[in-house]
Amino acid sequence: MERTYIMTKPDAYERGLVGRIITRIEEKGFKITDMKMMRLDENILKEHYAHLADKPFFPEIVEYMTSGPVVGMIVEGNGVVDSMRKIMGPTDGLEAMPGTIRGDFANNKSENLVHGSDSVENAEIEIKRFFG
Ligand SMILES: Nc1ncnc2c1ncn2[C@@H]1O[C@H](COP(=O)(O)OP(=O)(O)OP(=O)(O)O)[C@@H](O)[C@H]1O
Ligand SMILES: [Mg+2]
Repeated sequence: MERTYIMTKPDAYERGLVGRIITRIEEKGFKITDMKMMRLDENILKEHYAHLADKPFFPEIVEYMTSGPVVGMIVEGNGVVDSMRKIMGPTDGLEAMPGTIRGDFANNKSENLVHGSDSVENAEIEIKRFFG
């Protein structure tokens, strides 16, 4: 069965939106097969966001992503990787359509509530990274 790695970000925790994000996953009919709350450090973020490590805004990402707890989840279902990206909406909450998580709850391109793997291959890498 296809799997993806979903992770609520610290703003979701701070704003009390973790439950609503989980509800959207469940409403779609996908199965959460593992879940844990964690605090991330800079090392794991350099790995997880390696494609952004040389961007000028990378220190802000680290500050944001270490500002509170995240909730990591393994989510299973047919086509779950692409479907979850659609349910999340694009990176920038101002571009994201209403009805998506980011479209409904985010209004900028940094604090956007939730991470989702962008390919089946990266999903497996990320699941290994966060769940061992
Ligand atoms: N231009 C930017 N300015 C500020 N923060 C950014 C910018 N681009 C990306 N980010 C932050 O880095 C994260 C990872 O960026 P990426 O390009 O992988 O987007 P994404 O795949 O939509 O998000 P994620 O990987 O978290 O699911 C974004 O979700 C956002 O929090
Ligand atoms: Mg990404």
